[in-house]
Amino acid sequence: MKEVVISGTGVFTPPYAISNDELVASFNAYVDLYNAEHADEIAAGTVETKSYSSSEFIFAASGIESRYVMEKEGILDPTRMCPRYAPRLDEEPSLMAEMAVDAAGQALAMGGVEAKDIDLILCAASNMERAYPAMAVEIQALLGAGGFAFDMNVACSSATFGIQTAVDMIRAGSIKRALVLCPELPSGHLEWRDRDCHFIFGDVATAVLLESSDVAETPQFKVLSTRCATQFSNNIRNNNGFLRRAHDQMEDRRDMQFMQNGRKVFKEVLPLVSHHIAQHMEEEGQDPTGLKRMWLHQANKSMNDYIGKKVLGRVPEPEEQPNILQDYANTSSAGSIIAFAQHHDGMSAGDLGLICSFGAGYSVGSVVVEKL
Ligand code: COA
Repeated sequence: MKEVVISGTGVFTPPYAISNDELVASFNAYVDLYNAEHADEIAAGTVETKSYSSSEFIFAASGIESRYVMEKEGILDPTRMCPRYAPRLDEEPSLMAEMAVDAAGQALAMGGVEAKDIDLILCAASNMERAYPAMAVEIQALLGAGGFAFDMNVACSSATFGIQTAVDMIRAGSIKRALVLCPELPSGHLEWRDRDCHFIFGDVATAVLLESSDVAETPQFKVLSTRCATQFSNNIRNNNGFLRRAHDQMEDRRDMQFMQNGRKVFKEVLPLVSHHIAQHMEEEGQDPTGLKRMWLHQANKSMNDYIGKKVLGRVPEPEEQPNILQDYANTSSAGSIIAFAQHHDGMSAGDLGLICSFGAGYSVGSVVVEKL
């Protein structure tokens, strides 16, 4: 079996940031417009009054302070509440592909690898901009990469499931080098008009370069083991799909955007993830309390605090369990990779770290790495 290393990472950060205060100001302006427009129905009791959002609630409930997006004006326009992306011609690169190519370029540069030497490109993300052809194949062409490419969607766990897929192929010898790319554009499917979730997501793209150790020039981490698990749940769901026209459901419907029962997710996913990590470490003969760093999925600060404490048996120091969600919000599959890419300094050779993502499905993926 080949040994697999991570030799490069990349994070593409979109050009626009929206603070909680900015977001709440536009949401509350939308609420005023909505309530005025529906004043008669509200008075008659047939429509519910919409309530204001608040920056204090958002920070206290999630730890999020700001988020990056690819377009800001449409989101903050109280008469629109959705980004405005100009449609692109088929001959032009798609938006997600462009974001992924930027992150991929950073990872390739870090690894000293040319795109033509890549054997596999995985585009692992929660939503694809179109049904087909695969985003990954377009990215492969834009980069000038070799080999083959395909998409996979395991929602917020796509990065770690993608890493396991690539690692297994490298181990088996069918490929030598892979890029696992997570271009996430949740601004397109977030319901910005729903105060329960309007603050949750941000856009970003990440890249991880994985190589067989015998060809890697700048190996940084050895992948010791990976583990994926799923358990069906409807608590995070989006019903938009290709049968919509056949279902006569082309109207603006709430369930065609991101939906979640946040409280249930919080309660059900925490034990699932804590148990998953404990079992993964035990079956690999590794002591979880020996982990020097945990790069967790970035959905909610309290969730991460709980998992960190459960795994280490004590409250982790901030540098042991770095969060980036305060700046990026929940970036779906990319969150744990941003944390990994931006917060791996200060580790010594032999130190163990854990990348772990979790979310819709439910799904949980974990990757144990050793600093080289
Ligand atoms: N501003 C002000 N108040 C708000 C609000 C907002 N933007 N959104 C909701 N509220 C209110 C609710 O109406 C509720 O009021 P009530 O108690 O009078 O009914 C109260 O605040 C609590 O709402 P709740 O939805 O229970 O908040 P929460 O503490 O569960 O926090 C999340 C919400 C989404 C931050 C949290 O549940 C979470 O992060 N869950 C996990 C999400 C996750 O991991 N998803 C997986 C990845 S996609």
